[in-house]
Amino acid sequence: MRAVDIIAAKRDGKELSREEIEFLIRGYLDGTVPDYQVAAWTMAVFFRGMNAAETAALTDVMLRSGRVIDLSPIPGPFVDKHSTGGVGDKTSLILAPLAAALGIRDPMMSGRALGHTGGTLDKLESIPGYRTALSVEEFRAILVKDGFAMTGQTREVVPADRLLYALRDVCSTVESIPLITASILAKKVAEGAEALVFDVKYGCGAFMKEAEQAKDLARSLVTTGQAMGKKIIALLTNMDEPLGNMVGNFLEVEESLDCLEGAGLPGTPGPGDLMEVSLELGARMAVLGGKAGDAAEGRVLCEDCIAGGKPRDLFLRNVKSQGGDPEKLLELRGRWRSPICGEIRVPPDPAGSAGYIQRIDAWQVGHAAVSLGVGRNRTEDQVSPTAGIRFHKKRGDPVKAGEPVMTLWSATEKGLAAALSRLEGAVTYGPAPPAPRTLILTEIQSEGSPEAAGPVPEGVR
Ligand code: URA
Repeated sequence: MRAVDIIAAKRDGKELSREEIEFLIRGYLDGTVPDYQVAAWTMAVFFRGMNAAETAALTDVMLRSGRVIDLSPIPGPFVDKHSTGGVGDKTSLILAPLAAALGIRDPMMSGRALGHTGGTLDKLESIPGYRTALSVEEFRAILVKDGFAMTGQTREVVPADRLLYALRDVCSTVESIPLITASILAKKVAEGAEALVFDVKYGCGAFMKEAEQAKDLARSLVTTGQAMGKKIIALLTNMDEPLGNMVGNFLEVEESLDCLEGAGLPGTPGPGDLMEVSLELGARMAVLGGKAGDAAEGRVLCEDCIAGGKPRDLFLRNVKSQGGDPEKLLELRGRWRSPICGEIRVPPDPAGSAGYIQRIDAWQVGHAAVSLGVGRNRTEDQVSPTAGIRFHKKRGDPVKAGEPVMTLWSATEKGLAAALSRLEGAVTYGPAPPAPRTLILTEIQSEGSPEAAGPVPEGVR
């Protein structure tokens, strides 16, 4: 077998056998297939796609590239959630301690920043000392102690995703349904979760721009995951606008902590959109973990649990368990920022004396954040913990000429200039408030009751 023939077969739209997929992935891992051939193959998959059998084979080959974590000695239930990637999407940092506080164990294996989207591991590692490269033994011990543990792909567990994920990031082959399906499910099956909630994003800031594409991705995740024995609920959530008011690694840790202290809960000031999505996802985790009979009951449980403060305490406890310094985190909160600072302000007189923000383009914000140092342009790039963006105004807010809309913090002058020029056209203004946005479009479940949730419009409170 030769890698070049496998690439050509996919380039020409042919179906690959499991043996061919295995030859390529195993060869990549042992160094007999170079990364430029794997990069070419991912591009062929990007254009030609994969059928269900190929997707299942790729997922299984990636899963078996390392150890599958055995959680059987630990009492469950084990439920995890994973997002397909967004801008300002920090729900994992809220949901893992929330699930743990509800009595659900969350064995969470996440990724780094990918393309213009943020990565849970990069966010967590912005906490001084926090380690995400856990051995399997450490992962299990922390899961028992805190009720959740947060790790990344390692040389031991899903090493194939560790390499492919970073390669796709810099080769522009992230936006592929079979590659995303295999990447996510290989991690989720390896970590040992019994049931999974997927936050499948659609919109300009997501990898799937259209809702129909996102539904295809959700179906691919549900069908492939179900065949691997997992119970799954996928929510389709909107990613046209950044989620919450902060984009950036440490900034997003701070905002998650705010939410764990109740910010954005119904009737409470704070990032309502972020909390809305987190609560709806948390409600499904509660259902899958057997803590609630339906999503409505699960949602009440989640709201009450956050208000009670236990998830916040568990988050700080986990910071310590994973090598971080909770005292330092609290001390740096609200003031640890990159030194080079800029602003986007409402341009002179956009709509008479006042107007409303119609839209903040999440795709542009995500790319601006990469320029600031939040993500990577090359695999070897180091991300900045303290770079990022804070929104003072969001979609639907009334604004006056000259008011600040965003503050930017950058690792470099060049990065700030690039981000400012990108963000100039990212905000749209208009004379009247925009129509409410639907935050949660639909729900797809493994048992086959699609579209059970119905839309949840933003601005319901
Ligand atoms: N999240 C993942 O883990 N993998 C992808 O390919 C995209 C999002």
